[in-house]
Amino acid sequence: MSHHVFKRKPLSLLHEEMKSDNRLRRVLGPWSLTSLGIGCVIGAGIFVITGIAASEKAGPALVVSFIVAGTACVFAALCYAEFASMAPVAGSAFTYAYATLGELPAWIIGWDLILEYTVAAATVSHGWSKYFQALIKMGHIKIPTVLSNAPFEYNSITNKFVSTGSWFDLPALAIAAILTVVLVIGIRESSRFNNTMVVVKVAVVLMVIIVGAFYVKAANWHPFAPFGWAGLSFFGRTIWGQSSQGGAPLGMLAGSAMIFFAYIGFDSVSTHAEEARNPKRDVPIGIITSLIICTVLYIAVTIVLTGMVPYSEIDKDAPIAAAFQRAGLHWAQFIISLGAVAGITSVMLVLMLSQPRVLLAMSRDGLLPQSFFAAIHPRFRTPWKSTILTGIAVGTMGSLIPLGILAELVNIGTLLAFVIVCLAVLVMRHTNPQAERPFRCPWVPVIPILGVFLCLVLMFSLPSANWLRLAVWMLIGMFIYSFYGRHRSVMARRSAAGLTGQKGKQEK
Ligand code: ALA
Repeated sequence: MSHHVFKRKPLSLLHEEMKSDNRLRRVLGPWSLTSLGIGCVIGAGIFVITGIAASEKAGPALVVSFIVAGTACVFAALCYAEFASMAPVAGSAFTYAYATLGELPAWIIGWDLILEYTVAAATVSHGWSKYFQALIKMGHIKIPTVLSNAPFEYNSITNKFVSTGSWFDLPALAIAAILTVVLVIGIRESSRFNNTMVVVKVAVVLMVIIVGAFYVKAANWHPFAPFGWAGLSFFGRTIWGQSSQGGAPLGMLAGSAMIFFAYIGFDSVSTHAEEARNPKRDVPIGIITSLIICTVLYIAVTIVLTGMVPYSEIDKDAPIAAAFQRAGLHWAQFIISLGAVAGITSVMLVLMLSQPRVLLAMSRDGLLPQSFFAAIHPRFRTPWKSTILTGIAVGTMGSLIPLGILAELVNIGTLLAFVIVCLAVLVMRHTNPQAERPFRCPWVPVIPILGVFLCLVLMFSLPSANWLRLAVWMLIGMFIYSFYGRHRSVMARRSAAGLTGQKGKQEK
């Protein structure tokens, strides 16, 4: 490999590029950015995954799992915020890695972010379809079985695929198509649509907390940590705590690794830096405020849920709606299902909004074909071609591939991105100590180091199959890079033309 693959993109070059005409529309203020963060965060994690995490991984100690995962996210968020204020362009972690660690690590992170955005959107489209079907069933409308699910499911106990009797999941496909149209039409419309969905879901979550609190029985919190406090494994071998029959780690930490999914998305705010009116101030505000609000809501919902139902009886598909039904609050089921549908819609919207912006940044740097991925619609000013491609990928995966296969890839991929961003802050403080940092991560190097440590702990608390899937995904990425990006990147061309890729240590 030629040496340019580790060349870093100078910050000055990033700032220069930001002045060009072919940029996105700056329309987002601090509230819209915070709302995009909340829009992307509260969804299938709290409405669906909490059930399985409480009943099978952590018990009532899931509330501590939420605190641990939330703490890892706060550390990563502070690092994201520092970078977003320094380089407020669309590429998020990809751009930060390019400026600090070099082209190859940047490609790896960009490729990894596809897991966080496109694959996560396909994952939550399954949850959307299930809640949507439950909602219309209340009006006695039923989607035909052949159009109601992915054609097969993966049974992790027998390690076999089983047929569901369906051809494909029509609601999952339909929501991906509808959101793609909204996203192509414009960022302002997408942001308004998101704001409405956020108001609905936050209202429903508050209702769950306030009404549910009256039905809590303290006895349900005993035993508090039935699976223990640990759950750490190293490539399939449990090294701390209990494990399931199938060898998956159990305990509070294992619960934390699972419900980490619920936090995914706050960092998507950084992909909208180029559309922010005052990105240096408002993007850090958006990232940190949305994360704090969601963390507080999650902790409260988990306290209520595990107090309403004994942990072993918590429903695995629709835990919150089922808890209210069990308490005799049948009216609440409709409202909670509506909140879940609205919540998951906005999660999908923001994830599908973020992906094309990362692809846009990668193509501007020559790592993907620019004519396609950097094409901005002349009227709507959106990256329309890659938005449509993202929509097709989300619709196809969401309607055909089983949920379990998709969900497992998402957490590990996102945790890896967080590790790299925390490391990148440390590197940037060393290589560019004088660069302007409108927002500074406090207590460097302690916070980034703790961020790396906690994210790695969570990665190791995931079942080992995740590591294998991540490795396969990365190999595919390396293959594409070695045939395309390595030869065509802007840095490769600058190298060939004899221009330096790295500037002095003190460069601003
Ligand atoms: N955090 C998002 C959700 O829970 C991905 O749906």
